[in-house]
Amino acid sequence: MAFAITQTCCNDATCVSVCPVNCIHPTPDEPAFGSTEMLYIDPKACIDCGACADACPVDAIFPADRLTAGQQEYAEINAAYYARDGADQAPAPPDEAETGPLFHPWGRPVFDRVLPSGFGPLRVAVVGTGPAGMYAAKDLLLHTPAEVTLIDRLPVAGGLVRFGVAPDHPSTRKVSETFAQVHAHPRVRTHLGLEVGTHITAEELAAHHDAVIYAVGAATDRRLGIPGEDTPGTLSATTFVAWYNGHPDVAPDAVDLSSERVVVVGNGNVALDVARILVSPPQTLAGTEIARHALEELRRSKVREVVLLARRGPEHAAYTRPELRALKHLSGVDLLIDDHDPRIAPAVDRAGPADKAAVLQGVAREPVDWSAPPAGSGARRRIVLRFHSAPLEIRGDRATRAVRVTGGSGETELPAGTVLRAIGYRGVPQAGLPFDEATGTVPHERGRVAGMPGTYVVGWIKRGPSGGIGANRACAAETVGTLLADAIAGALPAPAGSARAFHRLARRRRRR
Ligand SMILES: Cc1cc2nc3c(=O)[nH]c(=O)nc-3n(C[C@H](O)[C@H](O)[C@H](O)COP(=O)(O)OP(=O)(O)OC[C@H]3O[C@@H](n4cnc5c(N)ncnc54)[C@H](O)[C@@H]3O)c2cc1C
Ligand SMILES: NC(=O)c1ccc[n+]([C@@H]2O[C@H](COP(=O)([O-])OP(=O)(O)OC[C@H]3O[C@@H](n4cnc5c(N)ncnc54)[C@H](OP(=O)(O)O)[C@@H]3O)[C@@H](O)[C@H]2O)c1
Ligand code: SF4
Ligand code: SF4
Repeated sequence: MAFAITQTCCNDATCVSVCPVNCIHPTPDEPAFGSTEMLYIDPKACIDCGACADACPVDAIFPADRLTAGQQEYAEINAAYYARDGADQAPAPPDEAETGPLFHPWGRPVFDRVLPSGFGPLRVAVVGTGPAGMYAAKDLLLHTPAEVTLIDRLPVAGGLVRFGVAPDHPSTRKVSETFAQVHAHPRVRTHLGLEVGTHITAEELAAHHDAVIYAVGAATDRRLGIPGEDTPGTLSATTFVAWYNGHPDVAPDAVDLSSERVVVVGNGNVALDVARILVSPPQTLAGTEIARHALEELRRSKVREVVLLARRGPEHAAYTRPELRALKHLSGVDLLIDDHDPRIAPAVDRAGPADKAAVLQGVAREPVDWSAPPAGSGARRRIVLRFHSAPLEIRGDRATRAVRVTGGSGETELPAGTVLRAIGYRGVPQAGLPFDEATGTVPHERGRVAGMPGTYVVGWIKRGPSGGIGANRACAAETVGTLLADAIAGALPAPAGSARAFHRLARRRRRR
């Protein structure tokens, strides 16, 4: 009996490095790694040692014979990746001609991010304690004798792992336990509640460190640019997510769930997260880390229906398959595709096993009458997937009343008291750093900020707001590699201030 990887996999590839028989793919060295939604275990090669399950930071790996009802399809999904019938993933499985035999003996160890002997410990500041900052800090601590100063503007560390990842994904949030080890490391000093650009300047930080890595994420949201976007009742998923996760910047009364229908614009994983939280029975959220004010509002909620508005077809959905599959298993919730456009049925019905739309096969499909009240039979709630439909205008004066959308035979009005735009996050300019307005990122070369020796970026502020937690691990490896190459080349400016002087300054400035 083999092990299988399940839904919560965040692609950090920790399991790959501990598997003694190299039966987990795609590996970071294989081309498919960049686009895969999760990793897969080859059941024929797995020797059941359990090392991967012990190492996985988000508890995504289980023996195939102990999968829960909701996880059982993952045994087949893992096996199908190697059966070469492309049952789940578009990228092809590894070709042994290219990768060498899948079972291979231990090779020579490779140390590609080290400082040669003779280098004293570098002092590196990492701004931001989300996944990108933590992977960068971990990389530095593992590979070099560096001393790391961790800084975050919030009083709690974790970035989006704490204030973004949905509370009903406790195993994903468990990755913070791995990051907690970094905070406890003897070569790390952490300053929480200290905002660079407000309490301390970028220049002051640079003056006390050999290098500074900015891992400040993407703190705000994209805008639709349509009339009525600022009508009360229309808000960003960024606000909604921060609200249910108890982010200190969002007021407990920022969300009102007194409307029966909520329209969510966008169909990425954030859209799916907010839809799931809105329709989940509150008792299933009660034991999670959801903010108390959010749980109370969800208990009072009148929401019966959530409409997910996607401007493209099901073959181009932005969500990942495991997240959509989870919606199919929600207790007390029906999933329906609004069959308003002739392109939808063929895209779903003719989808091959490797096509994204295939995951919608078996989901109910019918045209929805939007002039009728929100449906949902008895106590059941409903999620409606409306593809090929873009928002044109939010209607309502002092409160959101409806969204005018494209689709069907022209334009349609969807009555709704709440509209959430889940169309992506966006980076904000960081004082003292260049900023590309078009992409919402800091211009860089392999992590090195253009024209600023000793300054680096990592994570969403470097790559833009896409990719799961694990994607930040490879991103951090690249940035740390660039930093160490610069150190070896003598390109890091020497700091004027000592570590002690910095910590004294930080303590003085830190927000109470
Ligand atoms: C709603 C949501 C849910 C998600 N769920 C999942 C999931 O289930 N699984 C998954 O794999 N991925 C998930 N992701 C993606 C994942 O969260 C991101 O890949 C990851 O958090 C990006 O890491 P980051 O470190 O770049 O940014 P962040 O996590 O945003 O961290 C940035 C940190 O920088 C701090 N900061 C910002 N500016 C300053 C400053 N000036 N001074 C000091 N500190 C500062 C912030 O307070 C924050 O702590 C989710 C993303 C979102 C938006
Ligand atoms: N459980 C998880 O693993 C998890 C949970 C949450 C987030 N994440 C990750 O975090 C990252 C960010 O997720 P996200 O959902 O914010 O972003 P995303 O995946 O980029 O999705 C954004 C969605 O908004 C749509 N959109 C953009 N502009 C629009 C406009 N003007 N009008 C209408 N629709 C518009 C996009 O449509 P188009 O495709 O047509 O552009 C897309 O459907 C992703 O990598 C995601 O996988 C992971
Ligand atoms: S159980 Fe052992 S052999 Fe099987 S995938 Fe995990 S680490 Fe590899
Ligand atoms: S989260 Fe990481 S360790 Fe766990 S299964 Fe996915 S890639 Fe492997």
